[in-house]
Amino acid sequence: MTTNPSNPAPSHPAGAASPLAPKWLQVPEDLNALHEPMWAAGVTRDDSGELAIDGIPVSELQRQFGTPLFVMSENDFRARARAFSDAFNDAFADICGGVDVYYAGKSFLCTAVVRWVEEEGLRLDTASGGELAVAARAGIPGADVALHGNNKSDSEIHRALDLQLGRIVVDSLAELERVAKIAEARGETARVMLRLTPGVHAHTHEFIATAHEDQKFGLSMAGDSTEQAGLSAAEEAVAAASAYASIELLGLHCHIGSQIFEPDGFALAAEKLLDFLAAMQAKYSIVLPELDLGGGYGIAYTPVDTPRPAAEIAQAMAAVVRSKCAELGITAPRISIEPGRAIVGSTTFTLYEVGTLKTVRVDAPAAGESGDPEKNVTYPRRYVSVDGGMSDNPRPVLYDADYSAILASRSSDAAPELSRVVGKHCESGDIVVRDVYLPEDVAAGDLLAVPGTGAYCWALSSNYNYLARPGVVAVRDGSARLIVRGETEEDLLNRDMGV
Ligand code: LLP
Repeated sequence: MTTNPSNPAPSHPAGAASPLAPKWLQVPEDLNALHEPMWAAGVTRDDSGELAIDGIPVSELQRQFGTPLFVMSENDFRARARAFSDAFNDAFADICGGVDVYYAGKSFLCTAVVRWVEEEGLRLDTASGGELAVAARAGIPGADVALHGNNKSDSEIHRALDLQLGRIVVDSLAELERVAKIAEARGETARVMLRLTPGVHAHTHEFIATAHEDQKFGLSMAGDSTEQAGLSAAEEAVAAASAYASIELLGLHCHIGSQIFEPDGFALAAEKLLDFLAAMQAKYSIVLPELDLGGGYGIAYTPVDTPRPAAEIAQAMAAVVRSKCAELGITAPRISIEPGRAIVGSTTFTLYEVGTLKTVRVDAPAAGESGDPEKNVTYPRRYVSVDGGMSDNPRPVLYDADYSAILASRSSDAAPELSRVVGKHCESGDIVVRDVYLPEDVAAGDLLAVPGTGAYCWALSSNYNYLARPGVVAVRDGSARLIVRGETEEDLLNRDMGV
């Protein structure tokens, strides 16, 4: 640890909590231990103290595939997909005969994953022509695929019809008209769900219910949202959709947010949509046989995240759907859900190699924020640079997302030191893990593993600073294979026309 002689020494002993640490971050009792909810099944420390997945040491993965590297457990992906599907099917069996689970491909998609999804009996939610192209290449039947998006192009709508998609989730009145016209011109019928905004927005531990949502998605359920007095955009869409001969209106959809732990928000949205569904069925003499309650189920990124088991959420939602349908006197619609993160998030860790280490001294944080620091004292914060960064995981920059990390290439008995894991990009905000205790003896050449990077990391990755996007390795039953190869410099140069 470097010290600046003009500053007093840190007043906290080695291994004690740093006053710079956020309140939620505890000094781990054992820096080598894996906090189980954050890791894929099959990830362990082997006898030598090295992190291994299905018995394959991370140094071997680095040797074969390089770093940074996304390391995904195929068995764990399949198990989580099945667990979600089983939990919801069990909970809803007596209500609507079960649930259709659409894996949200935006969280992470490649052809191998589409095949796993299909083999485990799930369906696929896509959000663009590109995602549809992956689905088509993997050969999943179009009937098992949904297409989302608030700004679908005509060619995406054509592609959805070419692939005979099970559902197009329509997001606006204008889009409804376009889908109807395109289908009519083709002499076909488009199967459509309407995405509504129920005025419920949930995030992690909280949800808020508002009359109107100020955001770009969906059809508002608020009464005065169109020019037709008294009709909401949602109702206008139901009326229009049922009148188009080229549209088969399957039902209603909502998605209330992401990384949600408590079932209350889902339950409230389900109640609002069921009220609306019953009212529309009565008013327009139609049957809306399906209701999709979206995705958003949270995972553990750090030890303080405590997501509920899928069964608990499924049962809470089923109880609400059961009692609401009884109260309304309607047959329960077939329920579907769209989990992404909860299936893929924890299946994957990112493997990085440590490079430059640097310790800076930082003023004590304001009292009350983090304990009761002394005045005029600075504390050390160690910056641990790794060979990736915001190009392979922009979530800390985009959403202030917290992650965790462990020393992976070996175990260590050294004291914990508050560390910030940063990338190699030309941005001071290029943070991979904002606050984590790592062993004091972490050194250049060590490997770090960051768990929980299966969802929205590779999917959101970029080539910032001309870094090549990392590959994704799937490990199954003790063997590892690339399911997405990492980019090469040649890939990066290929699109530069040089003119
Ligand atoms: N269905 C719809 C209509 C969605 O918009 C989303 C996510 C999902 C399902 C899947 O949500 P999940 O179960 O994965 O939470 N990039 C952000 C998350 C954006 C989510 C967008 N929509 C992040 O990294 O946190």
